[in-house]
Amino acid sequence: MSDQEITDQDPELAAPADADQGYDDDYDYDDDGVDMGVARGMRSDYCGELTVDDADREVSLCGWVDNRREHGEKLAFIDLRDHTGIIQCVVDEKHDLRREYVVRITGTVVARPEGMENPFLDTGAIDVQNCTVEVLNKAETPPFSVNSRQEIDETLRLKHRYIDMRRERMQRNLRYRSIVQSAVRGAMEDQGFTEIETPLLIASTPEGARDFVVPSRQQPGTFYALPQSPQIFKQLCMVGGMDRYYQIAKCLRDEDLRADRQFEFAQLDAEASFVGQDEVIEFISYAVAAATDAVRGVWPEEIPQMTYADAMEFYGSDKPDIRFDMTLVELTPLFEGTEANVFKTECVKGIVAKGGADEIARNRIDELTEMCKRWGAKGLAWFRVGDGLELDGGLTKFMSADELSGLPQMMGAEEGDLILLQSGDRRSVNDVLGRLRLEIGQPPIDEGLAFVWVVDFPMFEVINDQGNPVAMHHPFTMPHEDDVDYLVRQGGESMLKIRSQAYDLVLNGWELGSGSVRIHDPEIQRRVFAALGLSDEEAAEKFGFLLDAFSYGAPPHAGFAFGIDRLTALLLGETNIREVIAFPKTQSGQDPLTNAPSAIADNHLTELGLRVLPPAE
Ligand code: AMO
Repeated sequence: MSDQEITDQDPELAAPADADQGYDDDYDYDDDGVDMGVARGMRSDYCGELTVDDADREVSLCGWVDNRREHGEKLAFIDLRDHTGIIQCVVDEKHDLRREYVVRITGTVVARPEGMENPFLDTGAIDVQNCTVEVLNKAETPPFSVNSRQEIDETLRLKHRYIDMRRERMQRNLRYRSIVQSAVRGAMEDQGFTEIETPLLIASTPEGARDFVVPSRQQPGTFYALPQSPQIFKQLCMVGGMDRYYQIAKCLRDEDLRADRQFEFAQLDAEASFVGQDEVIEFISYAVAAATDAVRGVWPEEIPQMTYADAMEFYGSDKPDIRFDMTLVELTPLFEGTEANVFKTECVKGIVAKGGADEIARNRIDELTEMCKRWGAKGLAWFRVGDGLELDGGLTKFMSADELSGLPQMMGAEEGDLILLQSGDRRSVNDVLGRLRLEIGQPPIDEGLAFVWVVDFPMFEVINDQGNPVAMHHPFTMPHEDDVDYLVRQGGESMLKIRSQAYDLVLNGWELGSGSVRIHDPEIQRRVFAALGLSDEEAAEKFGFLLDAFSYGAPPHAGFAFGIDRLTALLLGETNIREVIAFPKTQSGQDPLTNAPSAIADNHLTELGLRVLPPAE
């Protein structure tokens, strides 16, 4: 979704099913048993907490003027807002109160007469009367209305984030973010993990994105990298006998920003000793379940597991969205010996769009074909399934009778469906069909959460131009027990078949987190480096300190990290992580509020031994 498409959606719509006005019941101060008694400062109560039970009580409330309505010369209805809600105050003194003025109102709670209640307001059964108003601060007219349900330009929202934050959506999201973090912390502590902070000014980490760097003043010409993750430090903590480490860690990566990516983000990062994949899956499942329960009020069922190979074969993606079926069907055997040139390829697979024969019009098929081409395909083969499973489509004239009858059968297609096929090499067929599936599958727009563990990731992702395989996770990932013997440097694609002990957690088609069992055996580590094309000298130069540490008694260990921003966004039904970050960057990496990034003074540059080149052409 682009910046422009972000809508100022109705927070009521986005609220979790059981959330009341966007606030979880647990977030209620009184119910929670949090004693705010002495700490209430200038107020006796919070606006959203008052009910008919408070009738006749004198209360002092503090907050912002959400709205005012005049009633004749002297009477005004002020909607007073604080972070717990809104209450109507009836003011009969003359005041020049405008929207967003900060006020303290003292008055008496009165039950509204029957029939006069406001069903749209949680506090609609009461109001506060005989009010005295104290203006604590005036306010300019805000650039957008806090109580607006209209779409507001996102750059404007970010430029005035402090006003945007007063809106119910941001109030809800940031408070829930805190609830997620505290649930996750609690879950990790319950399981014997200790929070350890790791440094921000470090040498580069091998996560594969670009580093943000910080110039050193004391050693001009040298740079710290900001951590892409605490990966190396958490492994050092294991060598240091910390046994179970966790941290809600700020990570920084200089990569292109998208709905699920920011430069700065937070991870629940964890590592444990003398455990393997099963235990890590258990620890992390418990933490995400605790967070889900804290926000949604439901403890999710046991999270299913799927191998990477199956995810690619059936969903065409290593982050399968399993909320809907439309899985990829293997058709290669059907087209063995075919006369149709398009299907004389390594692999033919398809998906069925139920009811698509009528619903998906010709111009939409053309649009989908163009998309497939952009994704690297030659085109898109399509067939409408008619009466008696007869196929209609441009390619039918090149197909044999067996192919024509076998196709709808193998696809499990019925009359009225649309069959879409891809042919080519298996990797691209899976990839293109996987994307097409998401494009036309339209996951149900509901509150459903579909977690899945994807296991047995390959060790290597691709073979690079120098003929070297590239690590899929990172070079400290343990190969699959059964595949260690294949880990000799061999040419070609066969290296890509070697599996690792790496696993991802996926939620609704988003990668929530990744982890692996790490290599603690120097001989296996040496073989992995060799397979990656790194000589002993190069490995020592890049990772010498870690290899050194490992030579002093490294326990077997494994770990994981998941994105706090992503988890919070998905739990709240948000489609962009910016909505759950207090001060995010725009898609182009800017902060419209503080104008970062910005130039620094010449003398500061000189001190750092830096000179800025003119922008490249
Ligand atoms: P990985 O690189 O997969 O693994 O990151 C783990 C999780 O962090 C989140 N994430 C991001 N969230 C927002 N914006 C970003 N730019 C961004 N990049 C990553 C994702 C992702 O799944 N050290 C390993 C973990 C390990 O092996 O223990 C690591 O960082 O949710």
